[in-house]
Amino acid sequence: MPPSPDSAAGGTPDSVAGGAPVDRAAAGGGIPVRFTLNGRPLATPVDPAERLLDLLRYRLGLTGTKEGCGEGECGACTVWIDGVPCNSCLVFAWAVEGADVRTVESASHEEVAPLLATGATQCGACTPGVVMTALWLVRHPELLRERTIREMMAGNLCRCTGYDGIVQGVEAALSRAPSSKTAAAIADNP
Ligand code: FES
Ligand code: FES
Repeated sequence: MPPSPDSAAGGTPDSVAGGAPVDRAAAGGGIPVRFTLNGRPLATPVDPAERLLDLLRYRLGLTGTKEGCGEGECGACTVWIDGVPCNSCLVFAWAVEGADVRTVESASHEEVAPLLATGATQCGACTPGVVMTALWLVRHPELLRERTIREMMAGNLCRCTGYDGIVQGVEAALSRAPSSKTAAAIADNP
């Protein structure tokens, strides 16, 4: 659950992993940013070098979004920006001004259940990113006319599952989607 707009805009103490807490309001700094987070409006000052991942995970406490590599390779930090999966470790927080940002905390139990049922998660480090990419794929099954599920999920690295459970979980989620287009896409999937 994201914090209320008031609390986020009110200059609550920041804490960045490994660093001392900083009260940005008291310091009088930061770039004001307004965006929608998991369906709720949010306004907060951000540091010029602050990543979206830092803001979400370390300052707003949305710890579902994980940090793996920190350099755009692993996908553990995947969130949606305006409906598209993005590596939040590569996005400056100020860049989401006016955007619609969704994190794994916005996913419902029903949406995540297929992935849990197929062994798509073990240690869980990759799981939030996998979920965000998988749910995007479920909403865009037409993409599977050009690429396999495995190819579409290639940006989310997993050291535990061997990927079969992830692919099966996406297949299960697609099969539950109420769309005939989905079924056609699965049938065409090589
Ligand atoms: Fe962002 Fe690895 S932490 S891609
Ligand atoms: Fe451990 Fe994917 S479940 S990294």
